[in-house]
Amino acid sequence: MEFSIKHGNAAKAHTDCVIVGVFESQLSAAAQVIDEASAGLISKIVKSGDFDGKPDATLLLHRVPNIESERVLLVGLGKSAELAEKQYSKAVRASIKALAKSGAKNASTFLAEVPVKKLSTQRKVALLVEAALDANYQFDAIKRKKETTKAKKGLSKLAVFVESASLTKEAEEGLAIGKAVAAGVSLAKDLGNLPPNVCNPTYLADQAVTMGKQYAFKVEVLEREALEILGMGSFLGVSQGSETPPKFIIMQHLKGDKAQKPVVLVGKGITFDTGGISLKPGAEMDEMKYDMCGAASVLGTFKTIAEMGLNMNVIGLIPTCENMPDGRATRPGDVLTSMSGLTIEVLNTDAEGRLILCDALTYAERFEPSAVIDIATLTGACVIALGHHATGLFSNNDALAKELLKAGESALDRAWHMPMWDDYQPQLDSNFADMANIGGRAAGSITAACFLSRFAEKYDWAHLDIAGTAWKSGKEKGGTGRPVPLLAAFLLARAGK
Ligand code: BES
Ligand code: MN
Ligand code: ZN
Repeated sequence: MEFSIKHGNAAKAHTDCVIVGVFESQLSAAAQVIDEASAGLISKIVKSGDFDGKPDATLLLHRVPNIESERVLLVGLGKSAELAEKQYSKAVRASIKALAKSGAKNASTFLAEVPVKKLSTQRKVALLVEAALDANYQFDAIKRKKETTKAKKGLSKLAVFVESASLTKEAEEGLAIGKAVAAGVSLAKDLGNLPPNVCNPTYLADQAVTMGKQYAFKVEVLEREALEILGMGSFLGVSQGSETPPKFIIMQHLKGDKAQKPVVLVGKGITFDTGGISLKPGAEMDEMKYDMCGAASVLGTFKTIAEMGLNMNVIGLIPTCENMPDGRATRPGDVLTSMSGLTIEVLNTDAEGRLILCDALTYAERFEPSAVIDIATLTGACVIALGHHATGLFSNNDALAKELLKAGESALDRAWHMPMWDDYQPQLDSNFADMANIGGRAAGSITAACFLSRFAEKYDWAHLDIAGTAWKSGKEKGGTGRPVPLLAAFLLARAGK
């Protein structure tokens, strides 16, 4: 979808459709303009009870008298005093979805003119663009009959109207940010949605290399031999049951001051998680193709910051492999030696995410990071605790946790701070190694974080468990691109933007 920033009269916009908001008891300014030009048509519709302005309601009108545009789409905004980011973003989505079913190819939206609690024009435009592109997303890369036929196309052009010319610059900045975040989200969704026989460790590594060439940042891919030399016995232990070789991807976006310590993002890249010898049950096992969504979010965030040309130092680390059962696979009871030297008794080969992440966390030390954030579809227990709304956030530093919470709030990509008290650590005790890789059923997502914390003692660290937020199941099955918006907001805030 192509965007442009404009200003002007809603009744005179030359377009397939004008999109205007209607509150529960009042018209927005643009809706009033249409109303006046059309001798009160919208007021009549509202009075007749055909449109109540309730959140997300939409009504498509054709050939409204004295209006240049062929169509007018009314979008419900709810109560005017209550309109905040979330409802605003939902209204934008509803408008895009409604038009996807129509014949309109281009549209002019006046939703960015509506006052939203505490939001600047820049932020409104960024949110609008993100929401519109998110709602317009389709994954049909591997369907023979692509759904881009005439019947189901959606918008190709969207003009975003702001109140006056003096807001154009601010709106353009919002547009650039919104587009960059949406590009990262879209990449993360695509990578998650690709089947595991396509999106394997080699594919992820190729994506990183291609992106590095496109945006001129450094990318290195370490192969098995290099990982053996580094002593990444824990990561290699997970990968050894697979015919597909493991990769360790290192991306370096060094666009900040030389002296600035980097933020390191570490993404779990299990391109398929069968559970290994501790085999998972068959039902819904296909969804374990999404077990690389942490990696996808790191690649997506790199796309976003590269697009924005963010002047900051950011390192991305992705340990990626498959977790497969095999004659050579790690057994329950095996002891692995991690890169840190700590030994791990593998009591369950299905707790593999922490085994690949721990070596990446040790590797991260060499960058003397200002903060390390790992992102992982780590535990089913996190889905039980928080459902599909919030990402689980764990940290060894409360200030860092607060920064991430705030970023998530502002990006409509929320996390929830979970405890990681020492009380939980003994659940990882092992009789045969420095630690076990599981801590029993109780507090499963917390003990997983406790495990990782032992490899993150040398720096400020946070862990995002995205098991419940990275994809949707059921009829709408698909990657969500989370937590790219959160990570982008976090980095933008750190860069002072
Ligand atoms: N990738 C899974 C976590 C997962 C499960 C994410 C379901 C989303 C939905 C992870 O590798 C795993 O299998 N974790 C185990 C840990 C257990 C063995 C301690 C789990 O959550 O069951
Ligand atoms: Mn697993
Ligand atoms: Zn897993």
